[in-house]
Amino acid sequence: MNVQIAPSILSADFAALGQAIEAVERGGADLIHVDVMDGHFVPNISIGVPVVCSLKRIVKVPLDVHLMITDPDRYIEAFAAAGAAMISVHVEVLPHLHRTVHAIQALGVKAGVVLNPGTPVVALEEIAGDVDFVLVMSVNPGFGGQTFIPRSESKVTDVRAALDRAGNHSAPIEIDGGIDARNAGRVVAAGARILVAGSAIFNSPDPERATRELKTAALSAMSASAPAR
Ligand code: DX5
Ligand code: ZN
Repeated sequence: MNVQIAPSILSADFAALGQAIEAVERGGADLIHVDVMDGHFVPNISIGVPVVCSLKRIVKVPLDVHLMITDPDRYIEAFAAAGAAMISVHVEVLPHLHRTVHAIQALGVKAGVVLNPGTPVVALEEIAGDVDFVLVMSVNPGFGGQTFIPRSESKVTDVRAALDRAGNHSAPIEIDGGIDARNAGRVVAAGARILVAGSAIFNSPDPERATRELKTAALSAMSASAPAR
């Protein structure tokens, strides 16, 4: 399993999204992370289906849609039709998580489940064998530019163990919140394989270069943690 970089456009200039995406793609972005917020589940409102639709026309890499909304079931089909390649939903809002995960997959989209910092790994237990990926929040969702919660590192290791216990060795762990070139190596060593970064990339003067640097840091941690032959 390789390591992937997913720039979050939440911190990009929404008046120039196309150029922002081209820059991070030149820098080696593997995915584009789209944060959808409803002002209910999280205390902020961001973007929705029409933006994903427009982005789909210009992106070269897959769109990774993170739904921070109270009723994701109502919108899954629309985001799939808009061009999402991956959709992640929060376990905290879903009484029928199993049904939702399979509904996403039935649309031909990779299904991920997300754990907030306050949500225990055990919440994953019954769904660990079904998911295509797990997203570990390393900040409380709602805003870019927050500080990485250090406990998230061992949580990634615990999630990896839960996935492996379920026999789901191929499902990667994505980590989201406060990721930068300084902590990238540590989260990769803990087992994260998709690194989301918003402010570290788009608040930097050169997002293309920031993407490349984050990828280099992540890849060097991968080769350092690879088993010796
Ligand atoms: C937070 C979002 C993140 C956010 C990350 O609610 O889910 O994807 O954009 O931003 P940074 O990297 O600045 O923490
Ligand atoms: Zn996100």
